[in-house]
Amino acid sequence: MWWSVPLIAVLALTFYGCPSQQNLSGSGDAAQKVYVAPGEHDEYYGMFSGGYSGQLPVYGLPSGRHLYTIPVFTQSATNGYGYNEETRPMLMTTHGYVPWDDAHHPEGSQTDGELDGRWVFMNANNTPRIARIDLTNFQTAEIIEIPNSAGNHASSFVTVNTEYVSAATRFSIPMDENLENMDVPISSYAENFKGTISFIKVGDEGEMSVDFQILVPGFNYDLSHAGKGPSEDWAFFTSYNSEEAHTLLERNASRNDKDFIAAINWRKAADLVADGAGEDIPGEHYRNYMDHDQQLAKSELIETVRVLDPEEHPGIIYYLPTPKSPHGVDVDPTGRYIVAGGKLSSVLPVHSFEKIQQAIENEDYEGEIDGIPVLNYESIVQAEVENAGIGTLHTEFDGNGYAYTTAFISSEIVKWSLETFEVVDRIDTYYSPGHLMIPGGDTRNPDGKYLVALNKITKDRYLPTGPELFHSAQLIDISGDKMELLLDFPTDGEPHYAQGIRADLIVDNQIRFYELEGNNHPDATKTESEARVERDGNDVHVYMTSIRSHFTPDNIEGVKVGDTVYFHLTNIEQDWDVPHGFAVMGAQTSELLVMPGETRTLEWKPKKVGVYPFYCTDFCSALHQEMQGYVRVSPEDSDVAISYRTGTE
Ligand code: CUA
Repeated sequence: MWWSVPLIAVLALTFYGCPSQQNLSGSGDAAQKVYVAPGEHDEYYGMFSGGYSGQLPVYGLPSGRHLYTIPVFTQSATNGYGYNEETRPMLMTTHGYVPWDDAHHPEGSQTDGELDGRWVFMNANNTPRIARIDLTNFQTAEIIEIPNSAGNHASSFVTVNTEYVSAATRFSIPMDENLENMDVPISSYAENFKGTISFIKVGDEGEMSVDFQILVPGFNYDLSHAGKGPSEDWAFFTSYNSEEAHTLLERNASRNDKDFIAAINWRKAADLVADGAGEDIPGEHYRNYMDHDQQLAKSELIETVRVLDPEEHPGIIYYLPTPKSPHGVDVDPTGRYIVAGGKLSSVLPVHSFEKIQQAIENEDYEGEIDGIPVLNYESIVQAEVENAGIGTLHTEFDGNGYAYTTAFISSEIVKWSLETFEVVDRIDTYYSPGHLMIPGGDTRNPDGKYLVALNKITKDRYLPTGPELFHSAQLIDISGDKMELLLDFPTDGEPHYAQGIRADLIVDNQIRFYELEGNNHPDATKTESEARVERDGNDVHVYMTSIRSHFTPDNIEGVKVGDTVYFHLTNIEQDWDVPHGFAVMGAQTSELLVMPGETRTLEWKPKKVGVYPFYCTDFCSALHQEMQGYVRVSPEDSDVAISYRTGTE
């Protein structure tokens, strides 16, 4: 293509050149707009993907204050998630225990196309999974693995009433019922590699199940969004690598002028599946969930998955030709327009849902791939937005008739009209924005007040911290005709997508502590008088309580080298914000951080004879430093019997 060479040159400049810092900072007026006085609360929760941290950091908006980090796909030493025995099952997969992932797109649950503040879903890209985070306690409530998939990137976007959460293969892979047939030469890609697009059903309590997968050609599926309004029965998935290249994709997957958006009538597919259509094929995957009654995570292995082949079920999927290796796909609040990111395209294509329906009705096809009709581009495109920046990736909407698109290479946000499809404003970002977020900006009813640019390269925005720098978010006022930069703040991990949720949808439902009475953990100790130590072969179970400012018991003897000790600690406080911690010298895992009314278990294998102190890791009272105890560890052949006490000399 004529523009390929200059584009690559610009790309190279972006990565290897040194952008000079333009002197742009928020004005004093801007400072007032983001100032949240001490003791005052922010207007929005900003849930930002942690990217390769695997977590979900939460920021207040507009202040940019870091409120909390929700552990999701990665162990968290801060509170013991994924280290303690209660939460370890959350990270079980068919590859074994996987304590890390690359988290990408948080998406709030919706009712009638609007955020409802119940849950946030987020996808793991590396070992395909989707998590559901409960916004009553800001904890990961469930993680489901996605079978027959690799690189779960086009995820986790919800349909208008959270009927489904989406997933799709970024990397197509060999698929066969017989595992031996999966052992194929990589050069047989075109023949053997397949993709799947998955629809994960969400139950009334949020419980997830892989309802069905649609078998698709071995392209790379990139991003997704569900339709709304007239298009609410549909979901849209971008793809690239329609060339089906398997090496040097930067060149070999950039040959075709157009790739495709897959438009899927999920309602029709779901109805077919409900009527028994499709085939159950092997698809082992774990579903891990928090048992709220017992306050511990459980894992179940599911062995098969229902698959629909488009050749046998016409009408469930169509390809929309879209220039060129498109990235994001975003549906405007009215549900009429489907905007594709034009990663390698000089224009930003906007498809019309109405025209798509017309083309389907008229069988206005330019071809067919593996039983999937390819609609005629000229018949479905509503407009091509010109001058929308270089390297356009993602679009969000303000609900007032405007769209905002990030341009990665030209480092800017471009505002354009959904009426004229003309650019009306643009603002520089520092430096390379990937996703952007407007609270509710991908729903039927956006709050068109702020926009957050999620920037990939920070360079000189903050004090340097050696070679590794945090990424950066920039808060932009979009309430007027001209966009105005208000604030920038560093973000932990790599923020891909984010969700801004009005605080009033969340604050009133907050759990402040767990009722001790409702704690049905099998190893809970609800009173100090029930605290005890029991030996079971080489296992020693310590049933322990914590309350300001002591553990019961705090002197333990009779443990031997070779034993495995389980400290089951119940925090018997019944007040907000009084966790206790627990750590024992030589423990091969993190601390426990135990919320009031909760039980958490730390496994410890002492290797050497000695007396080992343990202590509370969370500063809980003026006498926190006194909150400690000792475990005596005797030789393997010792006859010291188990004994324990508190407060007796
Ligand atoms: Cu309990 Cu510090």
